[in-house]
Amino acid sequence: MSCFVGLYDSFRACFNPRSIKSGRDVNKAYYMDFVQPQKPIKVTITGVAGQIGYALLPMIANGDMFGNREVIITGIDLNIEAVKQNMKGIMMELEDGYYPLLKAVKFETDPEIGFKGADVAILLGAFPRKQGMERKDLMEKNISIFKTMGTAIENNASKDIKILVVGNPANTNCLVCSKYAPSIPKKNFSALTRLDHNRAKGQISLKAGVQLNDVKDVIIWGNHSSTQYPDTTHATIQGKPVDQLISKSWLQKDFVSMIQTRGAAIINARKASSALSAARAITNHMHDWVCGTAIKGEVVSMAVYSDGTEGYNIKEGLMYSFPVTCPGNGTFEVKKGLPIDGFSAQKMKETEQELSEERDLANQILG
Ligand code: NAI
Repeated sequence: MSCFVGLYDSFRACFNPRSIKSGRDVNKAYYMDFVQPQKPIKVTITGVAGQIGYALLPMIANGDMFGNREVIITGIDLNIEAVKQNMKGIMMELEDGYYPLLKAVKFETDPEIGFKGADVAILLGAFPRKQGMERKDLMEKNISIFKTMGTAIENNASKDIKILVVGNPANTNCLVCSKYAPSIPKKNFSALTRLDHNRAKGQISLKAGVQLNDVKDVIIWGNHSSTQYPDTTHATIQGKPVDQLISKSWLQKDFVSMIQTRGAAIINARKASSALSAARAITNHMHDWVCGTAIKGEVVSMAVYSDGTEGYNIKEGLMYSFPVTCPGNGTFEVKKGLPIDGFSAQKMKETEQELSEERDLANQILG
C-alpha cells in the first residue's frame, strides 16, 4: 500500500505547480490533507486545576473520551501563583504518564487565548456556594464567569465547537454562556446530568442485583439540582419493565430522593464533592455526543436547549435535561413521544419551574 502511495505522490508532484516551487513540500501537504488520520481534537477545559480536572485529564489523554483520536488539551484557570504551580505539576505528570494520544497540553489564564480554535469546551470553573451566601449572590458571580467564557468562545473557538457546562448551577450557567456566544448554534451547548443518569442506573442495578448494562432507558429530567426527576417508568432490567422487579413505591419515593440528594451524601461522606464520578460522567457525555453511544439507539440524559418541539410541554428557552440518543456524528436527538404518567408530569413541572426561576433571576441580574 505504501509503495502505491509513494508512486502516486511522485506522479502527482510532477504536475502540481506547488511542487515546482517548493520541492517535497507538496508531499507534506498531501499527507496532511489526505493520508494522515483525522486532525487532533482541541479540547479546552476551564477550572482545570480543581479536583474534577485532576480526575478528568488522564481520562481524556488516555482516549476514553474520543477513542483513538489524538488530543491537544488547553487548561484555563485563575491567574494565581498557587494554581499555576499546581498546573505545572499536573502537566509534568501528564508528560510522565505515557499517553501516546496526547499531542500537547498547555495552560492559559486568559480565556481569549485558551479558547482559540477549540473543538470541545468543558467548563468546570465556577464560583462555589459559600456558607450564608444568597442564591442571587451566587448567581451574580457565576453569570459574570459564564458571560466571559461565552464571549471568549464566540470570539475564538471553532464555530462547530461542542460545549459542556459542569460548573454549578450548570443548566443556567450553560444558558448564560450560550447567550454570549450567539454565532454558535444552541444545539452545540449542553449541561451535565449524566452523573445523575449514571447514579440512577447504578442504584437500580444494585437494588435488582443485576449488571449495570442490564439496566436501560433510565431518564433524568430537568435541572441538575435536588428538583431533578430520575424517571424509571420507561426503564427496563434485562428487557422487563423495572416495576416488575422493584416496587413502585420504592421507585417513586426512596429512589427519587436518593438520586436527588446523592451529591450532598457524597459531600457528607468525603467532605468534598464528587470528582471521580463527575469526571467519568463528563467522559461518557462527550464520548457519546462526539463518537456515539456504545449501543445504537441507547437513551442517555443531557441537559440541552428546549425549543418547544420535544413534545413534553416544557417551556422554550431552558437548558432542560431530556432523554437523548447520540448517533455518533457529533449530534444528538431528543427522544420524542414517550408516554408520561401523572406522577412524572408533576415532577417534570417542578424541575421546569425551578429552571424557569433561575433563568428569570439570571435575566434580572443581566438587566
Ligand atoms: P474545584 O473547586 O476543585 O475546582 C474549581 C476550579 O475552578 C478551581 O481550580 C478554580 O481556581 C477554578 N475557577 C474558578 N473560577 C474560575 C474562572 N473564572 N476561570 C477559570 N477557572 C476558575 O471544583 P470541582 O470539584 O472541580 O467542581 C467544579 C464544578 O463542577 C463546581 O461548580 C461543582 O459544583 C460542579 N459539579 C457539577 C456536577 C454536575 O453533575 N453538573 C458534578 C460535580 C461537580
